[in-house]
Amino acid sequence: MENQAITIKDKEFVPFISSEEIQNCIHRISNTIYEEYKEEVPVFVGVLSGVIMFFSDFLKHYHGDCEIAFLQLASYEGFQSTNKIDTKLDFTKDLTNRHVIILEDIIDTGNTLEHLYDKLENMPVKSLKIASLLFKPDAFKKDLNINYIGMEIPNKFVVGYGLDYDGLGRNIDAIYQLKA
Ligand code: IMP
Ligand code: MG
Repeated sequence: MENQAITIKDKEFVPFISSEEIQNCIHRISNTIYEEYKEEVPVFVGVLSGVIMFFSDFLKHYHGDCEIAFLQLASYEGFQSTNKIDTKLDFTKDLTNRHVIILEDIIDTGNTLEHLYDKLENMPVKSLKIASLLFKPDAFKKDLNINYIGMEIPNKFVVGYGLDYDGLGRNIDAIYQLKA
């Protein structure tokens, strides 16, 4: 029922990116990363919780040797992006001397990304790259590198495919946009 609007709590959302488009996009990112890392055993680090769907589908497309790890970050306040980021779960694996690729669901203001770069600054990794399924260029306020971007989207709130509105909507297999 991907062509119909959905309601989550008090808000209406309209279809925005189909599951087929998402899968094609992930296939492309996965192939690009594989071509660069096929001689190595990279560690893919998923930033919980929004990344769950992307992380799982990315791994299914990635055919080289790899390991995985997670961390969980959260804003202190409400649902607005804030620059006070709390580490709920720290890196689940020692990343010393590893080729690290961080996987994010979405990069919006870049506050979370900046926090990640700060956390990794004193960690002796062999290399570090960032991949994000979605990127909102009009919301991004930082001068930080994002190595792999799935899709650039307008600065509007989206749900589905791991992304939530007030805790709900993560289990939808396509991406919906808040109705104007
Ligand atoms: P940041 O503003 O780049 O730090 O993004 C912080 C976090 O806000 C992301 O990792 C998402 O969890 C969440 N977020 C940003 N934009 C959206 C959206 O459109 N829908 C749902 N969550 C979002
Ligand atoms: Mg996230």
